[in-house]
Amino acid sequence: MTQPSTSNDQAPEPQPAASPLTRLGEAKWLLLAALFAALAAVIFYDVPSSSAFAFLVILCVVAGFIPRRTASRRVKLNAQREIRRMWPGTGMKVTLDALPTPCFVADGRGITRYVNQQAQVTYEGVKPGDPLSFSLRAPSLLEAFDRVCATGEAERISWIEKVPTETWYEAHIAPIYMPGNAVPDRMPGLPDFILVVIQDLTENRRLERMRTDFVANASHELRTPLASLTGFIETLQGPARNDPEAQDRFLSIMLDQAGRMRRLIDDILSLSRIELKAHVRPVSTVDFAEIIRHTADALSPLAADLDVEIRVHLPDLPVRIKGDRDELIQVTENLIENALKYGHDGQFVDVELAEQIEAEDHTWQMSVRDYGAGIPPEHLPRLTERFYRVDVESSRAMKGTGLGLAIVKHILTRHRGRLEVESEAGKGATFKINLPASESAETASVVTPA
Ligand SMILES: Nc1ncnc2c1ncn2[C@@H]1O[C@H](COP(=O)(O)OP(=O)(O)OP(=O)(O)O)[C@@H](O)[C@H]1O
Ligand SMILES: [Mg+2]
Repeated sequence: MTQPSTSNDQAPEPQPAASPLTRLGEAKWLLLAALFAALAAVIFYDVPSSSAFAFLVILCVVAGFIPRRTASRRVKLNAQREIRRMWPGTGMKVTLDALPTPCFVADGRGITRYVNQQAQVTYEGVKPGDPLSFSLRAPSLLEAFDRVCATGEAERISWIEKVPTETWYEAHIAPIYMPGNAVPDRMPGLPDFILVVIQDLTENRRLERMRTDFVANASHELRTPLASLTGFIETLQGPARNDPEAQDRFLSIMLDQAGRMRRLIDDILSLSRIELKAHVRPVSTVDFAEIIRHTADALSPLAADLDVEIRVHLPDLPVRIKGDRDELIQVTENLIENALKYGHDGQFVDVELAEQIEAEDHTWQMSVRDYGAGIPPEHLPRLTERFYRVDVESSRAMKGTGLGLAIVKHILTRHRGRLEVESEAGKGATFKINLPASESAETASVVTPA
């Protein structure tokens, strides 16, 4: 986007130097007076005419050749300087352009005097000379702006815009007083310019909301098994005190509920541990193919229970990538376990590891495909949110906490990997993860069934 500029924004053009004749013309009255004085001196005071003539010549040379500012030029220059001072100076503009947030500088009448580069990107079409209200329409912001103009005191306000999506903004409106009372027609005590700095707080608010939602959801998830445990303990102490058969039944349900609480706490702790080291890249080198084989073997009893066959297709050579073995086991375990739990109707789960080279991007892709009920498209964008479940009851029945994919996402972020989900309702789901290939890896490109 081009830098906005107006004719007033420019420095005054340099004036061409006046010619000696022009200067003599400008000094004509002074020279005429000097001529009369010289004549009077020659006639009345016997001053030698050669001296008077020499005096007049020197005066003409001084008047014609020594540069000086005439009154009219002085007035013109001052007027230009005043006009220039109405617009923010280069120092102010350069500083505002260095800021990462949109900034507007306006005068006391609400006319935009400068918009920094970030504001030009965020508010397309905004230009100096237009009223500020053309680009900033929030009524509370414009009211606050008027108050700052009137009182000369800085204000901070926030507001929400609902269209096209819910967005939170905060604006800091501050008066600017230029040294030396720059703007000629401003009222004494009132600011020369008003600076409006706008910050988009949507991301921060979203994170805040996620954090509070997380605490609320975690407590809710824990409260349910806890309430059930308390209920059974009371029953065992009361009505079932002398009923060994009921006691056995209740104790096994209690064990189940305690297990659910333990899984939940384990997942919450695991999530916070991964979040803590999110910015630290794993340093160890692991064999991704071996991790997948190990996980598939570990999940074979569950597959047998659910009557599903896991078909694994892995390269015949080790696939070395930079990664944390335990965390990658968590990723593969959750994806294969999900495919078994939620796609067991399809009877098969295909797990494949293949190399992908796209331009500079060299990755290993693991895909886990099931042939079950699939996931309706409206749920896909939210799958990695904490505690998000497509069907809460089926997830609970499968002892799910709803944290598995959130953990997967965090682990992949730490490993600079990515997750893609493809699904069509009724046709199963495919979860694909890509992890960067290790530079020194001994690569394998032949894919054979394991
Ligand atoms: N392969 C799949 N087919 C259909 N739905 C799936 C599949 N994988 C995940 N889902 C849906 O996504 C939800 C979130 O999965 P996620 O792994 O995060 O949680 P969970 O499996 O319920 O619990 P956890 O993984 O903590 O045991 C699941 O509850 C399920 O509704
Ligand atoms: Mg899961």
